[in-house]
Amino acid sequence: MFSKETYQQRRARLIKDMGTGILLFPGNNEAAMNYTANTYHFRQDSHFLYFFGLDQAGLAAIIDADANEAIIFGDELTMEDIVWTGPQPTIAARAADAGVEKTLPFKELASFLKNALDKKRPIHFTPPYRYDNMVMLGELLGIPVGQLKEKASVDLIKAIVAQRSHKSEAEVREMEMAVNISGAMHVAVMKATAAGKKEAELAGIAQGIASGMGNGIAYGIILTVNGQTLHNHSYGNTLKSGQLLLGDHGAETMMHYAGDITRTCPVDKRFTQQQKDIYNIVLDAEVSSIGSLEPGLTYMEVHLAAARTIAEGLKSLGLMKGDMADAVAQGAHALFFPHGLGHMIGLDVHDMEDLGENYVGYSDTVKRSDQFGTAYLRLARALEPGFVLTVEPGIYFIPELMDKWRSEGKFNDFINYEKLNAWRSFGGIRIEDNVLITTTGHRILGKPIPKTVEEVEALRG
Ligand code: GLY
Ligand code: MN
Ligand code: MN
Repeated sequence: MFSKETYQQRRARLIKDMGTGILLFPGNNEAAMNYTANTYHFRQDSHFLYFFGLDQAGLAAIIDADANEAIIFGDELTMEDIVWTGPQPTIAARAADAGVEKTLPFKELASFLKNALDKKRPIHFTPPYRYDNMVMLGELLGIPVGQLKEKASVDLIKAIVAQRSHKSEAEVREMEMAVNISGAMHVAVMKATAAGKKEAELAGIAQGIASGMGNGIAYGIILTVNGQTLHNHSYGNTLKSGQLLLGDHGAETMMHYAGDITRTCPVDKRFTQQQKDIYNIVLDAEVSSIGSLEPGLTYMEVHLAAARTIAEGLKSLGLMKGDMADAVAQGAHALFFPHGLGHMIGLDVHDMEDLGENYVGYSDTVKRSDQFGTAYLRLARALEPGFVLTVEPGIYFIPELMDKWRSEGKFNDFINYEKLNAWRSFGGIRIEDNVLITTTGHRILGKPIPKTVEEVEALRG
């Protein structure tokens, strides 16, 4: 945990920003995997972690903005619990670590909220994403489960985004740690890559390092020879000479800050010329995007500049043609780069995505595009010091998408479909780093992770 003053200051800022009302934070519970006592790895809710720091199932908290008070609701272990789990600090002792003086048994939450509802006091909550908490909120607040998301408090969402978007120095130190563990995962995987190995074997190496050095993985490992499938979570393939291996994986620290790193390496010890050509375009887009980052610039501009770099690179290889500014404006580049350049990262790998991407990544002046590809950009608004974001351009050859667009005669002026035949089994390349926006520019978090063709090949031996 951070110091108790940290949590007190965060709650005080939230009270100031909200002004009035009851702010309700249901913590996460253990989640059954196949029967109640066999649970998934426990992950506390990130807002609960941010404002209360308590990494334990079965808690809820409220902040009463009018009374300037926080209460943590939770039950002490019974002797029977202790027999199975061992002794644990009391709820009051844990709450004191977060600077909270008042604790109550969990069942008191119902009467507390009923009392507030009777007095017609506003109760603010964020959009629930776990079904048990949906059922609980539905029952306690008298809201049909299907309406909970739309009844979530926009004021609370905005106040949380305003605060969590700017990482403190202590948070940045945690995030550097997350990146360093993630870097160790990538180096180990790239060193172990070889024809004949299974993707699962390499995913196991990554997972082992994440668990051994941190609190496990921050999101499902992507480690695949089918990098053209963006979020590919199966590991059944055996690596073959001539293929590329795309690894997108990162660790969580013990305090739950995430790293989100992607590297792509050849299964052989060297890239082929064709692989190098594409790799260097992606690298150029990544490095130049990072180089441009500074406060005030919108991430939409950075995304579109990366799309332009990718399109120009593909044109130089004869895969695209015509005016690349027009091609990007019309969305033709999205055949090869069909996702956004990046997203906020922090306690969540896609930070605060539970609150709604538009609240996190867009603003009154920067609105979401509805164009295929650019529509998937999760962060577009103007950058501010303290933001930590990912930069993750990629180039993918997706046979199904190429065939569809070709059959529709889509963007015939910009895409050389004939030439694409030689690239159908290429796969995909993505390169991703995590970057802090500083007052004057930016800083890539963590120790450098091999990234250029030369550095990756040196690692491959
Ligand atoms: N790891 C998922 C992503 O890069 O957003
Ligand atoms: Mn990633
Ligand atoms: Mn990412």
